[in-house]
Amino acid sequence: MSEIGGMNIQAIAQKYGTPCVVYDENILRNRLREFTENFRSDVFQTDVIYASKAFNCKAMISLISEYGCGLDVVSGGELYTAYKAGYDCSKIFFHGNNKTPDEIRMALACGVGTIVVDNVMEAEELLNQIKDTDYHVNVFLRINPGIEAHTHKYIVTAHVDSKFGISVLDEEEIREAVKLFGSTDRITFEGLHAHIGSQIFDKQAYTELVKKMFAFAAKMNSEYGTSLTAVNLGGGFAAYYTKADHPVPIQEVCEEILKTSAEENAKYGNPIKRILIEPGRSIVAEAGYNLYTVGYIKKTPNRLYAFVDGGMSDNIRPALYQAEYDAFIAGKEEEEVFADYTIAGKCCESGDLLIQSIPLPEVKKGDILVMKTTGAYGYSMASHYNKLPLPAAVFVRNGEDRCVIERESYDHLISLEK
Ligand code: LLP
Repeated sequence: MSEIGGMNIQAIAQKYGTPCVVYDENILRNRLREFTENFRSDVFQTDVIYASKAFNCKAMISLISEYGCGLDVVSGGELYTAYKAGYDCSKIFFHGNNKTPDEIRMALACGVGTIVVDNVMEAEELLNQIKDTDYHVNVFLRINPGIEAHTHKYIVTAHVDSKFGISVLDEEEIREAVKLFGSTDRITFEGLHAHIGSQIFDKQAYTELVKKMFAFAAKMNSEYGTSLTAVNLGGGFAAYYTKADHPVPIQEVCEEILKTSAEENAKYGNPIKRILIEPGRSIVAEAGYNLYTVGYIKKTPNRLYAFVDGGMSDNIRPALYQAEYDAFIAGKEEEEVFADYTIAGKCCESGDLLIQSIPLPEVKKGDILVMKTTGAYGYSMASHYNKLPLPAAVFVRNGEDRCVIERESYDHLISLEK
């Protein structure tokens, strides 16, 4: 496969330079279609909310809008991008454990539809800002259901001491939040939210989550005087990175969630009218490829290195999570394996290894190394470490390319410096 989206890989590398992040737009579209077509129900209103932290830019947000999806933002910056993309802000869910007063002000002014409140102090801040205005906002309360999905420990977010949400065991805090939401008709307390982790392979985790969420919503409605009608189950659906990964097909997870939701809701007299999911990674990861140019090859006693012109600055995931990736050399897919290579980035950090060991044909200076499945949390977690400019991001579809984020120049790097 020397093509991405019907376009020759070397030609993309030549046109945009390397490193470069390339998205096969048809894969993005297929994923969006899969989610929106499968997460449908006769019983509930269903919403697919794209978690834009996985990859947030105006072009991506326009695609989301085309498929009728909602949008999860977690900062003023993500919100601003959506606003500037012309996205309908009433479909935005604003997340985060420490939304600043300015960010809340901005969300209200932009007409953000839903704020997912993380804690009691945030509820107070929101109440103070909204009570004497004409704004109205829907609110979900982020709870910590205490379910730990089996995934990498750094990205589990729902253990009991998580910084996110209020634990279901912490009744006092939850009652306090309920009281605050109830004290103004500018706020509609619509539902509960939870997110139990990322890169989750276990369908059962969602079954447990649905049970817990419906039970807790019912408990709140009967004991805390709420009228909750919605449950947001967060994201976390796994993507395929390497042969070791066996993600549950999207259709199957959706069916499981819908089936369990209907069963659980019936148990409690059907108070819930709306269910939501928030996939990020599973929409963008597999559509993305990072292109690098190989520089020098170095042999050490135990390794054969191929150095590339990017690294942890454009993809921190291998260094941060020991995340594993597959890769190939453009144009050499049919060649025989020559050796196991370590793919090392160019950052001044010995941990900047993109791939520890991968069998490849003979790698030469000037080759284009293509790392697969880099579409989620790659560009979005990129940094300027070592003052490396951020790469371009390109969408390719049916042989046609369009730049969605320009490659930074050195002047960009110093543009704010005095
Ligand atoms: N909703 C909420 C509230 C979240 O916190 C997240 C991700 C998502 C949805 C989307 O989760 P996804 O479907 O993408 O798994 N940087 C890490 C992943 C951090 C995920 C944080 N929250 C990584 O690169 O693996």
